Amino acid sequence: MLSAKNILETSPIVAVITVENAKDALPLAKALVEGGVNALEITLRTKEALKAIDLISKNIDDCIVGVGTVLCEEDLLNSIEHGAKFAISPGFTPSLLKKAKDLNFALIPGVATASEILTAMQYGYKEFKLFPATVVGGVKMLKSLNAPFKNIKFCPTGGINEENFLEFLELENVLSVGGSWVADKELIRKKDFSQIREIAKRSILKIKQI
Ligand code: 3PG
Repeated sequence: MLSAKNILETSPIVAVITVENAKDALPLAKALVEGGVNALEITLRTKEALKAIDLISKNIDDCIVGVGTVLCEEDLLNSIEHGAKFAISPGFTPSLLKKAKDLNFALIPGVATASEILTAMQYGYKEFKLFPATVVGGVKMLKSLNAPFKNIKFCPTGGINEENFLEFLELENVLSVGGSWVADKELIRKKDFSQIREIAKRSILKIKQI
C-alpha cells in the first residue's frame, strides 16, 4: 500500500482528469505517462469516472491512478473497489479522514486554513491538497504555512497552470502540484492525445531545467 507521501513524491505533477467518455481513458493515460506525468487523479464528476479508474488500473503500467472529488466515505469505498490507489478530496469530514485511516488508504485531504490542517493532523495526516490554491493565497500562503507547520507537505491544486506551476514546485513544503492543464477537457473532447502528451512532456522538461 503506497502512502500519500510516496504518491506525491512519485510525480511532481498530479494530472487532474475529468473523463466524459471511458473510451478516452486509456489513450489519455498512455499519453500522460509517455509525457512523464504518472500520477493520475480521475475526478468523480462524471458517470464514467469509476470505469475509467478501473480501465487504467488494469491496463496502464508505470502510473498510479487515483480518484479525486471524493466527498464522502461511499465515494472512497467505490473508488477503492474500482482500483484507485489514492484519493484526493477538496475538503474533509472527520468521518472521511477516519475511514481512510482505518483502511490504511492514502487519502490526501483538501485544506484551506491552518485550523483545518490542525484538525486533520489529529487524525495523523501530514500531506494535504491546498485547495483552491491560487484563491486561498497561493505561493504566499504556502510560505506562511511553512513557518508553523514544518513537517506538513502540500499538493497545491486549483488555478495551477503551465505558467505558474514552477513557482509552487520550488517551495520547500510542496511535494507536487495538481492541475487539469495537462489533461485539458477540450483536447480530450477532440481526442488530441498527442497534444496532451506534448503539454505533459513540455511541463516535465521545465521541471528538469530548474
Ligand atoms: C479540481 O479539483 O478541480 C482541481 O482543483 C483542478 O483545478 P484546475 O482545473 O484549476 O487545475
